[in-house]
Amino acid sequence: MRATAIALLAALGAASAFVPSAPLSTGAVSTARKHHAVNMVAAEPAVTTAVKRNANFGKLSAGYLFPEIGRRRNAYLAANPDTRPIISLGIGDTTLPIPEHILSGLQKGASQLGNKETYSGYGAEQGQGALREKIANKLYNGLIKPDEVFVSDGAKCDIARLQMMFGAGVVSAVQDPSYPVYVDTSVMMGQTGLVDPATSQFDNIVYMPCNPTNDFFPDLSKLPRADVIYFCSPNNPTGAVATRAQLEALVAHAKKQGSIVVFDAAYAPFIRTPGVPKSIFEIEGARSCCIEVNSFSKYAGFTGVRLGWTVIPDDVKYADGTPVRQDFNRVMTTAFNGASNIVQAGGLACLDDAGLAEINNLMDYYLDNAVILKKGIESCGFKAYGGLDSPYVFVDLEGKSSWDMFSNILENAQVVTIPGAGFGPGGEGFLRLSAFAPKESCKEAVSRLQELFKA
Ligand code: MLT
Repeated sequence: MRATAIALLAALGAASAFVPSAPLSTGAVSTARKHHAVNMVAAEPAVTTAVKRNANFGKLSAGYLFPEIGRRRNAYLAANPDTRPIISLGIGDTTLPIPEHILSGLQKGASQLGNKETYSGYGAEQGQGALREKIANKLYNGLIKPDEVFVSDGAKCDIARLQMMFGAGVVSAVQDPSYPVYVDTSVMMGQTGLVDPATSQFDNIVYMPCNPTNDFFPDLSKLPRADVIYFCSPNNPTGAVATRAQLEALVAHAKKQGSIVVFDAAYAPFIRTPGVPKSIFEIEGARSCCIEVNSFSKYAGFTGVRLGWTVIPDDVKYADGTPVRQDFNRVMTTAFNGASNIVQAGGLACLDDAGLAEINNLMDYYLDNAVILKKGIESCGFKAYGGLDSPYVFVDLEGKSSWDMFSNILENAQVVTIPGAGFGPGGEGFLRLSAFAPKESCKEAVSRLQELFKA
């Protein structure tokens, strides 16, 4: 048996380590082998495998929201190649370059890899000790411990990994409207039933209505129990910011129901109003029932760089007493290999005093844009929310279809927005504007919108 295996390996080795040998010309063989290229084979007729599709994916709409927006924008551009440049107030993607001090951290991280003395390979899956410590001290003022911080490649990815940890058996609650990742990953995990065509809501998700009638904060007393409550403040997409009293009510509700809150604080540095909490851990009692996800994406222009973190205090425990942190550690050490060492050096620079000052300047710029957009859309006759302590402006369309308005604005003003319906049924009748565009683009977008709506 062993001899047969060895003979087989020898035969394969003689052909190629990776691909079966194919009769190539001498020159092609040497080039292909040198670059480890894979030889192309002729197109095969379409066939299916015998593998059954994960039925949960069939429950989701075909495409995730933001690529779908990009697809519609590109389709419009392809049909109208001579149109004026399109302005994006769509996905919340940063546009200002990374400032000097933070950039120097990234550069240092890259340089260290080119030097025998400072080179590093795999790091701790939970993140570098120095960065975990700096996050705990500089951003949480010691309210949490460094080993309760898990450094990662971003909040979105952490939300998916939290879902992997919670599994299929939990009921999740989301603000409605909300960042689509909470619902979509709950569906992928198998926590839900089908979407109800009458309500556009998934069965087995608790939708917490957040709209102008309740000041964008749900009436917690009217909600059925959920195991995991996703809550985002400053909120994406509404731009609403929860007050201390509201967050106290949220924590009290979670404790009473025995739920875990996953608090998404990705937009925390936009908070300027004194007294508004930037972290759920500013609220008494949160350590035993809250997890916080966060990210450098919007803080420091790291949307493409990728660096985030999740905080799970030791005190958050499952019904059987197992610390939740222990299971998340298992997920991170198994399904993640740690954030890039280059990027973590950038994160360390973000949290130097010079880096924090640069982050503040970036926030000021985008907050100023948000005011321009809010005033601009109000001048067109719309009521708008958010835009203060938040980069998102949420426009009330007074019952009009948000996808129709998206198309109207794209086709007639060449401005990309995000239809509220993309954030859940509660977002229908609203439109989200993102302040992450360059200032000149925000001003130009406002003048195009004024032209469109005053016509
Ligand atoms: C958004 O536009 O909602 C966000 O930028 C998307 C994200 O952070 O994944």
